[in-house]
Amino acid sequence: MKLNLMTKSTVCGLLLSSFLATAQKTKLEVDLTKSITKIQPTMYGVFFEDINFAADGGLYAEMVKNRTFGFDAPLMGWLQPNSNVHSFNKDSGIATPMRTSENPNNPDFCRVIINNDKGYQILNEGFRGMGIKKDAKYNLSLKAANHNNEIKKIIVQFVDANKKVLGETSIVPSSTGWKDYSTQIVATGTEAKAQLKITFEGTGTIDLDMISLFPEETWKNRKNGLRKDIVQLLYDLKPGFVRFPGGCIVEGRTLENRYQWKKTVGPVEDRETMINRWNVEFKNKQAPDYFQSFGLGFYEYFQLSEDIGAEPLPILSCGIACQYNSGELVPLEELDPYVQDALDLIEFANGAVTTKWGKLRSDMGHPKPFNLKFIGVGNEQWGPQYIERYKIFAKAIKEKYPNMTIVSGSGPSPDGAMFDYGWEELKKLNAEIVDEHYYKNPEWFKENAARYDKYDRKGPKIFAGEYAAHPKGVEDGLKENNWLSAVSEAAFMTGLERNADVVHLTSYAPLMAHVDAFQWAPDMIWFDNLNSYGTANYYVQKMYSNNRGTDVLAITKDGKPLTGQEELYATAAKDTDKKELILKLVNTSGKAQDLEVNLSGKNVDSKGKMILLTHQNLEDYNTLAEPTKITPSEKDFKLTGKKAAVSLPAYSFVVLKLKMK
Ligand code: AHR
Repeated sequence: MKLNLMTKSTVCGLLLSSFLATAQKTKLEVDLTKSITKIQPTMYGVFFEDINFAADGGLYAEMVKNRTFGFDAPLMGWLQPNSNVHSFNKDSGIATPMRTSENPNNPDFCRVIINNDKGYQILNEGFRGMGIKKDAKYNLSLKAANHNNEIKKIIVQFVDANKKVLGETSIVPSSTGWKDYSTQIVATGTEAKAQLKITFEGTGTIDLDMISLFPEETWKNRKNGLRKDIVQLLYDLKPGFVRFPGGCIVEGRTLENRYQWKKTVGPVEDRETMINRWNVEFKNKQAPDYFQSFGLGFYEYFQLSEDIGAEPLPILSCGIACQYNSGELVPLEELDPYVQDALDLIEFANGAVTTKWGKLRSDMGHPKPFNLKFIGVGNEQWGPQYIERYKIFAKAIKEKYPNMTIVSGSGPSPDGAMFDYGWEELKKLNAEIVDEHYYKNPEWFKENAARYDKYDRKGPKIFAGEYAAHPKGVEDGLKENNWLSAVSEAAFMTGLERNADVVHLTSYAPLMAHVDAFQWAPDMIWFDNLNSYGTANYYVQKMYSNNRGTDVLAITKDGKPLTGQEELYATAAKDTDKKELILKLVNTSGKAQDLEVNLSGKNVDSKGKMILLTHQNLEDYNTLAEPTKITPSEKDFKLTGKKAAVSLPAYSFVVLKLKMK
């Protein structure tokens, strides 16, 4: 009995203290007059790489895979259901890959022989299918040479898996020599995995090339355009920069398949198809049909950056192939063409229309310069070989373009011998911006919110160029973009913003992935052939980027920044243009936390806005079926006196905005 009473009183005591604990508010201080440092407009950007079918099959709206028959297996992507190479003369027809020396960049084409009227057909399978929407229009174009004018008609149709026709059109091939044809198909149904079927009227031989199909509706309705829904997601981020074209794709598995920007500009049909380095990178994620058409090339990247109000940030090969693969090196005495590529790129972006490369930009439709300010030398290189090559690039670029800001790299890890070596050497060379990469577990992100507090304020600036929290024990795929990963990134990012004096650019990576064709997860945006959506990680990025502010303010508890004490993280900023105070508060704990933020120095309006991103299950994630399961909500916020009382739900990220008087 006595024991029972004691137990009861202990329980009562515990309940009372836990009540007092929850009722107790954590007190924070913000002085609105104390601007600590500026936040760069480039602070929150995006990292684009053609990985996970992000370009061909994704952002780039082309729907035909292998339109130039330029894959290593020239008919890959093309099906001939009623034909067999071993019985070609008995079949209704046959398609044969051909190669000519007349067009060195696009030497391949397809010769189709129609033997009879028994319905020979070729089908293009698209990128894991083609997404078509009922009543939407699709622009088809192709090149054909109708040898003896015996083919009377080319019939082009959308078909579904049951071969039901979902729209059709036809072309009369009127020339024996190569000629361009174009037409339009209106889809009569919606289908995510349609195929393009081509049949022929007449018997004879016809050559086909550059068979291309785009939705009429692309971003800004451009020809050779980009998928509108995906660009919209990027636009909504209001990114400060677009880094392109990668990633390891810059380096190539070998030097031969490094990214060469000059091969990606000029007429689209002259851009040589090349294997994508992610094609066979991972044993469990083989994508033998992953090639680069370069239809989305450097001109289009610059244009995209301009369209979404972001600084272009191209990264170029520095003469080292991916050190995880071949690690091939260009001898220093043979580095000139690589350096020249960098100098010519600057001319392509910024040069007068009277210059060689400026003229090409103008001919492609953009006489005005793209106003390039940054250029990256090498992606994820390490060791003395990188430093030697970086030096040569930096000297040549600065001599000709002293105002160009050069981004250098510190390798693939955020610490360790190679990282330290790279940093030490780059510091000695007065490097301007150093790119750091970290793919780590969520705990690392939470534990590293103070990473940049310790950085040398007089050294190079930081480009947190590739980062993402990779949840432990999760298989590859959508669920890696769970709420745990996103809320951990939100916590870490308070440290990026608090250190905006040294951290000038940041980007989550990779940016996007096709749900049926990805090699790497997590990714910020997922899509299929019809739809796309932002992950919880996307919304974290968006909340930071859309509420960036211009100046960092101190937000402290007992005079110290909040870097994870009680699992609380915070950063404060003001926007001097919009006259706004912006608080970003993250609670990574499983219990709600009440805060009282004392605002001193300046008066603020009593009414503000609170944007809340929270979810109670850390394992949950957004999907195509439930794209907004984890999505921010916005509500009015009321202030009493000079104190902001904020209740942070368990596992939450809050942006609080108050107008300054
Ligand atoms: O983002 C995926 C890859 O990760 C990038 O290509 C590379 O730079 C890094 O290793």
